[in-house]
Amino acid sequence: MAKIEITKTELVWPGKYNEDGTLKEVPRVSLPFQVIETVNESRATREAKKGGVQQTLFDVWEGKEGDTFEEGWRNKLVWGDNLLVMGSLLEKFAGKIDLIYIDPPFATGADFSFTTEIGESGEEVTKEQSVIEEKAYRDTWASGYPSYLDMIRSRLLLLRDLLSARGSIYVHCDWRMAGMLRLLCDEVFGAECFQNEIAWCYREAINSTKRWNRKHDSILFYSREPDGFCFNPDAVLQPHSEATVKKYKYTDEKGRYRLMGRGIVGSPIQSARDVAPEWERTHPELVYRQYLRAGTYAVDYWMIDVINQASNERVGYATQKPEELLARILKASSNPGDLVADFFCGSGTTLAVAEKLGRRWIGCDLGRWAIHVTRKRLLGIENCKPFEVLNLGRYERQYWQGVTFGDKKNRAVAEQTLYEYLAFMLRLYGAQPVAGMAHLHGKKGKAMVHIGAVDAPVTIDEVNQALDECAKLKQTELHVLGWEWEMGLAGPNNDVRKGSPMHEIAKHKGVKLLLLQIPREVMEQQAVEKGDVRFFELAYFEAKITQPKQRTVQVELVDFATPNADLIPEDVRSKIKKWSDYIDYWAVDWDFQNDTFMQGWVAYRTRKERKLPLVSDPHTYEKPGKYRILVKVIDIFGNDTSQAFDVEVK
Ligand SMILES: C[S@@+](CC[C@H](N)C(=O)[O-])C[C@H]1O[C@@H](n2cnc3c(N)ncnc32)[C@H](O)[C@@H]1O
Repeated sequence: MAKIEITKTELVWPGKYNEDGTLKEVPRVSLPFQVIETVNESRATREAKKGGVQQTLFDVWEGKEGDTFEEGWRNKLVWGDNLLVMGSLLEKFAGKIDLIYIDPPFATGADFSFTTEIGESGEEVTKEQSVIEEKAYRDTWASGYPSYLDMIRSRLLLLRDLLSARGSIYVHCDWRMAGMLRLLCDEVFGAECFQNEIAWCYREAINSTKRWNRKHDSILFYSREPDGFCFNPDAVLQPHSEATVKKYKYTDEKGRYRLMGRGIVGSPIQSARDVAPEWERTHPELVYRQYLRAGTYAVDYWMIDVINQASNERVGYATQKPEELLARILKASSNPGDLVADFFCGSGTTLAVAEKLGRRWIGCDLGRWAIHVTRKRLLGIENCKPFEVLNLGRYERQYWQGVTFGDKKNRAVAEQTLYEYLAFMLRLYGAQPVAGMAHLHGKKGKAMVHIGAVDAPVTIDEVNQALDECAKLKQTELHVLGWEWEMGLAGPNNDVRKGSPMHEIAKHKGVKLLLLQIPREVMEQQAVEKGDVRFFELAYFEAKITQPKQRTVQVELVDFATPNADLIPEDVRSKIKKWSDYIDYWAVDWDFQNDTFMQGWVAYRTRKERKLPLVSDPHTYEKPGKYRILVKVIDIFGNDTSQAFDVEVK
């Protein structure tokens, strides 16, 4: 056997190295971001910043904004896998992030389940992880520590590149991973950049008699460079003990003080502590007043209570961390205006604290529910600055298509790629391919099937053409599968039972039409292999737009139906008394421009306020005219549905 030359200490695990002895490369994928929602900003402000409206389904984030709020910076909440998200942020943010905190999932399985509350009573039900979240969990722990270490190493390498020269990173872990992560972080950031291992100690039920009860987590603190990193000890002083305060017996206009002898050689009270006040009167030159500072410098073990059932902060996220913990980290290792990021943001604790402390922030999470909870949590902060919600949307899908079926940009393989994509989708849907047709791709039982492209919304024209082809072939049923939908196609009233404009058209052509959503899980190999992919009929809600006064409109929600009721666990279904119990949040964009959803009015349930208004506040337009109103409804599982309504105000 060849002798391996070992030149340094490092953590090695199966799969860390390629067979030829080289280190595994980290995929660095750069994809454009889509802005899917802007929160807390008026359209006028936004248009002024943007300089005109883009007529696309989504705004592509161009990153032209400045680095301060005054220069137009907007905080960012990104929905997606942080590996792709961080890779895509590198172009604009390499060396720009001042502080990163991460709290990656441990091997507990609790990371993705959450508690949701229903209706006015706020009865709690626990929602288990979704297929995609479960998949991330399974991937991470597929083969125990090696796959976890692969996952985390690739993220740490990207995180390092994002850190600014005076930046630092805090990696939160527990007893399971602390040892291995310490070695891995030493390797990625350099042992000379290790600053502290903080023990976050908490009181919780004591339940082990077998060993010492495990009542602390470890937070590893590394700086990007060995020196010159931001650290503000005075911002995180800890309160003095009572005994210390008692020693400062006297008070003057500057505060509490004690009397000390100066270190003058030959003085009878040289360097003495707590000398009698007479000395100050008789020999002021030998005495000085030592004032009580605001606190003592902080140590590396912190006693902070966990979020418990009764805590006001609690947002129903199993792994939620206390704000006090994050506040300490942010105050010490960043300054107002600095950029702070959390790429496993969960319920958004880091972002909420960053918002309150005037830091700029970027947050990312894979879970739909995490994004929803975070958005609500931020909205609840007084004077929360505008922020945007982004994802990699169709670019992620294009990337997936390229990796899975071949590069569409290469013309030679484009046709084959498309063919394979369609064949794959049909197989997933349980349909057979059909040949020789222009707009119909397959057949499932009696129904013909049309599949939408990965990189464009299904259009009204496209559905019409597929319907015409069905009519010509005397086919009576059409199923259209789409990733996204042209506005006006899927709403309003896309419900088959009630009949939408599209369904009416289909009926006239003698065809029964079903519109089905292609779920994100299609891109997840394990979900596909496990047969976990379900195609849902589009969720449906009904809203009434009224005009109570001149130039004024108001939206009323009148019905909501989840077409996939069979997917809701029985214990949840039995607690739902009325249609509005399904709704957790709804928002209105009064002047939708077919690009980003701009939240103009919003209502949502909180733990304290369970009642949800079903009628919006009135909105008055400056000018009469035709407007498109977009209404977005988010259900108690974090799924959203939007519908557009065209109105004319006089
Ligand atoms: C331990 S929780 C974070 C909790 C958070 N510190 C808080 O206070 O709420 C870990 C989070 O990482 C997210 N996550 C796991 N893998 C991810 C990935 N590959 N990309 C983005 N987020 C991921 C999970 O959805 C989960 O919300």
